[in-house]
Amino acid sequence: MMTATLNTTTQLPKHLQSGLQYAENNFLDEHARHLHLDKQLLRSRYDLTGKKVLDFGCGMGGMTLWYAKNWDCTVHGVDLDPAHVQVAEFLKEKYKLDNVEFLCQDVLKKPLTDKYDFIVLNDVAEHIPMPALEAILAQLRECLADGGVIFLSFPPWRSPYASHVTNAVGLPWCQFLPQKMLYRMIEKNNKDITGAIEGDLLSAYKGLNHLTYSSLSGLTKKAGLKTRWRKSHCLLNRLPAMQDTNFSFFPLDFLVTKEFVEVSA
Ligand SMILES: C[S@@+](CC[C@H](N)C(=O)[O-])C[C@H]1O[C@@H](n2cnc3c(N)ncnc32)[C@H](O)[C@@H]1O
Repeated sequence: MMTATLNTTTQLPKHLQSGLQYAENNFLDEHARHLHLDKQLLRSRYDLTGKKVLDFGCGMGGMTLWYAKNWDCTVHGVDLDPAHVQVAEFLKEKYKLDNVEFLCQDVLKKPLTDKYDFIVLNDVAEHIPMPALEAILAQLRECLADGGVIFLSFPPWRSPYASHVTNAVGLPWCQFLPQKMLYRMIEKNNKDITGAIEGDLLSAYKGLNHLTYSSLSGLTKKAGLKTRWRKSHCLLNRLPAMQDTNFSFFPLDFLVTKEFVEVSA
């Protein structure tokens, strides 16, 4: 197990500062823009008190720390990117949360061995190449304690924001532009992002696996997981009369901004 090392007496290096700000905001702000819904759903659907939680693909730890602060639970955050884990460790020290542990680990090389009651992949599944995602889901199934569940949230590929570069390019659904044209547009507005593996917007875009609910279902089935619950959050859900409707059908599925899925063994 490779654990991130950190000298807490020093500041984080300059190139990690913007990531730190982002993660700290995700931790502290209940209304953080793209996490507002996740937090609302997690609070209303789960009681993590006394549970062992795995935040898989925890990134810079904003949500990992949020679970640890909001419930009396034990949380492990696992991520592949050492720069992300470095930020997460920094925040853990800053907020003195001792029920969290961060691990920088490639679970396909060194599998996880603990059992968890609640495994969450928050905005992660769309970043992992499909064959690796299938193997990881199969491994996570083995890591489920009796009665445990896996909760995934992700922007499906048809979502207006699925490209992750909407702000830079200035166009929703830009993932459907001809690829060369889109690459040029991203390159023109490219910027560094915190990360040792994907260090700018273009590489982050290229790392996306174009995940849809249906492709995820195929993978979870192969991994021996059953879907227990699904919520497709759509822009139309903002209308009070349509708050609870699932608009997961064509063409309204293009308005779905996030899929929330719960699976179990
Ligand atoms: C968009 S970030 C989401 C981070 C965090 N879950 C959050 O909500 O803020 C996606 C994360 O998945 C991580 N990731 C991608 N592939 C991974 C893998 N095979 N194992 C662990 N983490 C992975 C990336 O390093 C990145 O930190």
